[in-house]
Amino acid sequence: MDPIAPSELSAEIARRRTFAIISHPDAGKTTLTEKLLLYGGAIHLAGSIKARKAARYATSDWMEIERQRGISVTSSALVFDYRDHTLNILDTPGHKDFSEDTFRTLEAVDSVVMLLDGAKGIEPQTLKLFEVARMRQLPIVTFINKVDREGVDPFSLLSEIERTLDIRAIPFDWPIGAGSAFRGVWDLSAAKAHIYEAVDHGGARATDRILKEGDPALESILNTLPDKTLFEEEVALLSLEDNSFDKKDFLAGKTTPVFFGSALNNFGIELFLDAFIGLAPPPRAYPSDKGPIPPDSPSFSGFVFKIQANMDPQHRDRFAFIRVCSGRFVREMSVTNATTGKPLRLSKTIQFLGQKRERVEEAWPGDIIGLHDPGVFRIGDTLCEKGLFHFEGIPSFSPELFARLILEDPLKRKHLKKGLDQLAEEGAIQVFAQDPHGERDMIVGAVGALQLEVLKFRLEHEYNVKTRLEPVGYDRARWITGDPAKIDSLAGTLDTLRVYDREGAPVALFRNEWALRYVVEKYPEISFHGTSPRG
Ligand code: G4P
Repeated sequence: MDPIAPSELSAEIARRRTFAIISHPDAGKTTLTEKLLLYGGAIHLAGSIKARKAARYATSDWMEIERQRGISVTSSALVFDYRDHTLNILDTPGHKDFSEDTFRTLEAVDSVVMLLDGAKGIEPQTLKLFEVARMRQLPIVTFINKVDREGVDPFSLLSEIERTLDIRAIPFDWPIGAGSAFRGVWDLSAAKAHIYEAVDHGGARATDRILKEGDPALESILNTLPDKTLFEEEVALLSLEDNSFDKKDFLAGKTTPVFFGSALNNFGIELFLDAFIGLAPPPRAYPSDKGPIPPDSPSFSGFVFKIQANMDPQHRDRFAFIRVCSGRFVREMSVTNATTGKPLRLSKTIQFLGQKRERVEEAWPGDIIGLHDPGVFRIGDTLCEKGLFHFEGIPSFSPELFARLILEDPLKRKHLKKGLDQLAEEGAIQVFAQDPHGERDMIVGAVGALQLEVLKFRLEHEYNVKTRLEPVGYDRARWITGDPAKIDSLAGTLDTLRVYDREGAPVALFRNEWALRYVVEKYPEISFHGTSPRG
């Protein structure tokens, strides 16, 4: 393989932006994603209203269950070019039950777009995802969507963001009119108006007339607003406020630039994207056990943040999604899986470009690549071209819901095992055995109830195994380490069930907080962990 020139590597790093959109279901994430692809030229006609009605899912949704439920169960990664940048969007599942998957997705991005429904403000799921983003110290850019709906009050939205999220909200543009009178946005730093007309009901780019203050054309448009004075007063008020923007504060997650628009009509999208590529940081250094690995370190490294089986029911395939952290990835390259110590050749690769899957020949820091996975990858695995190190692990979270999984047809035990293995490796659920060899009924754990339903559905539809879930009455789990004899004696404790995770590590399930506290106090020589020791 040809060595890379350091200047080429740094140019590729500087071009990349890898981000996720966090929002509450229905705020317009699918619509916005589609419109970003439209403006990037990755798709030519965003799903027209009619097409969307016929199929309520967009480019990044695959699974049957998503279609049935209209929610995004999987996190997908899409790449597209915009101007001279390459953008990777990671789709975060919006449903409240998918916090674990979301957490991992946010581990693989450098910034976040917080998308709000202008008429609803901060909704519960946004708040939760925002907290995860803040925990990961990710810079956050805000897009307030649906300004074409009635009931949008920009000032109260800004104060709601500041009050609820404890982050300074700095408007970069301001809506000209709202509801049915939403005509465009005022670019606050350029002091220019962008007046839009929707084209093809938002299926194509909106027309964008840029007008300066005092332009008679702008005056006549402002005269059509139901409340022209309000707009003028608001802009005058903004000029009096100290809205100076400090990029350091933004990168530290202390401030969030705010944009207004309508994803459905493509109002404010281009202005937002142009600003976003300037604001969002390029790929960051990742912490490892050998210190931080900067993206411009010459040899390739990356980590597995997601495993997804059966994305396409036509091909029974399974992919491990890797975030490239440093160096250059070239197809057919040899690497070591630092976690297992095994050498690997990376040949079957995919990337999602708009609506197409394509083979990846080359990738750079910030890029997400899907590697065909014959079962050799696990979430959190580090891949290194040279020198061995481990990126800080992505932990398994302690599930809060447990159920005994009962096989309806005992002859399907092998299929069940295969399905459970794969779904557990994807990180969709956690599987616990009551005996070290996993001969008896399995206990499955999930962070939310929907995950258990998804499990049942996928076992039936993808593995042809009918199962039943029975409640077991435990609601928390702790991985346990310490003296094996003491751990053994835990087995017989009332309100506690000792099980084993897929690695054979002992785990205790507890009926309630009281039982957990009792055991923790009674066994001071044992350590109890909320995440798997592997993390
Ligand atoms: P999600 O992925 O965040 O769950 O949201 P999605 O994009 O599916 O959008 C949810 C609903 O909000 C859709 O309407 C969508 O058309 C609408 N929407 C998105 N952006 C805007 C906007 O800027 N203005 C307005 N007024 N609506 C917007 P739906 O009726 O549920 O679906 P569909 O029939 O349009 O597909």
